[in-house]
Amino acid sequence: MLELINIKKSFGAVIALNQASLTLEKGEIVALLGANGSGKSTLVKILGGTVKKDAGTITVDQKPVEIRSSAESRARKIAVAYQELSLIPRMTVYENVMLGHFHKGRFGQVDERKNRSFVCSLLEKYGVACNLDDFPKDLPSSTLSLIEIVKAISWDPDILLLDEVTAALHHNEVENLFSNLRVLSENGISIVMVTHRLSEIFNIASRAVILRNGESVADVDLKKTDINKIVYHMTGKMPEIAENPSDEKRSMEDAVLVVENLSIGESVKNVSLRVNRGEIIGLGGLEGQGQSQFLRSIYGAIPRDSGLITLAGKKVDYKSSANAVKDGIGFISGNRNRESIFSLRTIGENIFSAKMSMGRNFSGISNRMIIRQTNQIVKDYEIKIGNINDPITSLSGGNQQKVVFGRWILVSPEILLLDDPTKGVDVSSRRELHNFLRKAADQGMTVLIVSSDNDELLEIANRIYVFYEGGIHCMLCGTDCTEEKLVSAMMGMTAKDSVK
Ligand SMILES: Nc1ncnc2c1ncn2[C@@H]1O[C@H](COP(=O)(O)OP(=O)(O)O)[C@@H](O)[C@H]1O
Ligand SMILES: [Mg+2]
Repeated sequence: MLELINIKKSFGAVIALNQASLTLEKGEIVALLGANGSGKSTLVKILGGTVKKDAGTITVDQKPVEIRSSAESRARKIAVAYQELSLIPRMTVYENVMLGHFHKGRFGQVDERKNRSFVCSLLEKYGVACNLDDFPKDLPSSTLSLIEIVKAISWDPDILLLDEVTAALHHNEVENLFSNLRVLSENGISIVMVTHRLSEIFNIASRAVILRNGESVADVDLKKTDINKIVYHMTGKMPEIAENPSDEKRSMEDAVLVVENLSIGESVKNVSLRVNRGEIIGLGGLEGQGQSQFLRSIYGAIPRDSGLITLAGKKVDYKSSANAVKDGIGFISGNRNRESIFSLRTIGENIFSAKMSMGRNFSGISNRMIIRQTNQIVKDYEIKIGNINDPITSLSGGNQQKVVFGRWILVSPEILLLDDPTKGVDVSSRRELHNFLRKAADQGMTVLIVSSDNDELLEIANRIYVFYEGGIHCMLCGTDCTEEKLVSAMMGMTAKDSVK
C-alpha cells in the first residue's frame, strides 16, 4: 500500500539516505532498524513531510505521490511520533494533542467538552499519567514520549510512524503500548516502528527493514530470522558476546575516580566503575541508556539519588559543576551551541573562560598574557582563525570544538569528561581532537568519553563500559574491544541470545 523506492537524501556533505526502500502493507507492523546515524529518522521525516527527499519515489496504492509538507503527509493519513518529540513547551498537553485538528461543533466553534473528553480517553487508554492542563516541562520524559504517541494517534492515521518512542519508556509502559498497537494493526492501521531495542521487535513486528549507512540492506521475515542475523545486517559483521570480566582486580592506589552504586531516578541504576590515572574510558551504548546522565552526575550537573564518588581518594559530592571545575574536572559537550561555547564572545575569551572559572585571583593577569596563552593554544591546536578577537561563531564546527578542547587543556584538569564531543565534527578535526586526548592522557590526564560513534570508542578508549537500560551491561578491554562485541553488548545481548 505504501512504497518507498530508492530514496536519497543528503545534508550538505553527509549522505543520510542512499537507496533506501521500504514497503508497508495494510495492517502490517514493520520494524525499521539500523545503527545510530543509519538514516532511520530521516526516512521517517520524509514521510512526515518535515524533510524533503533529494531523489526516489514514494507510492501509495501504486500511485506516485509527493509529500512536501506535514500538511500533505497528514492528508495522506500519515501520522508521526518523532524521536525528538514535537511538543510545544508553552502549550498544555490537551492543546498539544489537538493542535491543528480541534473537533468543531455544529456552528464551527471548538467544542471544548468534546475535545477534552476525546484527549482524556486517549490518555487513559495509553496509560499516560498526566492531566490535560499540564505543561510538558513539568512531565518526565516517559510521559512526554507517550503524549507524542497519543498525539500522532489522535489524527486517526492509516499509517503510523513511531521513531524510537520506546527508548524513554519503562517496561510496563512498553507492554501496554504494544497491546494497543496490536489492536490498531488488527483494525487495519499500518505501523512502522523504529527502535534500537532488538529484543522487543520480535514481540511486535512481523517484518524488519534494516538500514546500514543510509541503504536498506535487508528486509527480513522476523519469524524466520534471529537476532544474530539482524545484528549482522546492521553492522556487516556477525555478533560476538564478550565474556564479562570478573571484578576488576586493579590496585586502588592508581584509581583516580571510583564510582560506587550510583543511581539517578529511572535512568541510571547502580552503576559502579573505577578509572585509573591516564586512562581513556569509553562509555558506550545506544542513545539514552543512561550514560550521559551518569557522566553529568559525576560533576554535579545532574543530582544523583544515591551512590558514592571518590576522586583521588577523597569523597566528593558536587552540588554544582563550578565546584567540580575547582577540583580539576573539565567537561566538554558535543552540543556546542547550548553547552560549550559562549556564542557572543570572542575566540580568545572562549579559550580563556575555563581558566577564569577556576576561581583564583586573576587581578595579576594582564591582557598580554591572555593573548599570549590563547595564541599558543590556537597554534598548538592548529585552529584556523582570522583573529582571536573575532567572534567564536566565525569558526567552523570542527574549529569551534578545538577551541573548547584548548580551553580545558589550558587548565590541565585531572579528569576530562566528554559527552559525544565530536558529534557533527568533520573527520580531520575529529582525528586531531583524538590526538589531543591521547597526548593529554599520556601526560596523566584521565578521560571519560561518552560517544554515540562506535568507531570513535574503539579507536580511542582503553576500556569501554557499555550501558544498557541504565546499567553497565559489560566492560570491554584489550582484545574484547571489537565492533562485534561492542554492538552485541549495546543491544543488551547475552550468551543466551547467541545460541540459536
Ligand atoms: N538536519 C540534519 N543536518 C545535517 N545532518 C543530518 C541532519 N539530520 C540527520 N543528519 C545526518 O544524517 C545521518 C542520518 O541521521 P538519522 O536519520 O538521524 O539517523 P538515525 O535516526 O538512524 O540515527 C547522520 O549522519 C546524521 O548526522
Ligand atoms: Mg533517529
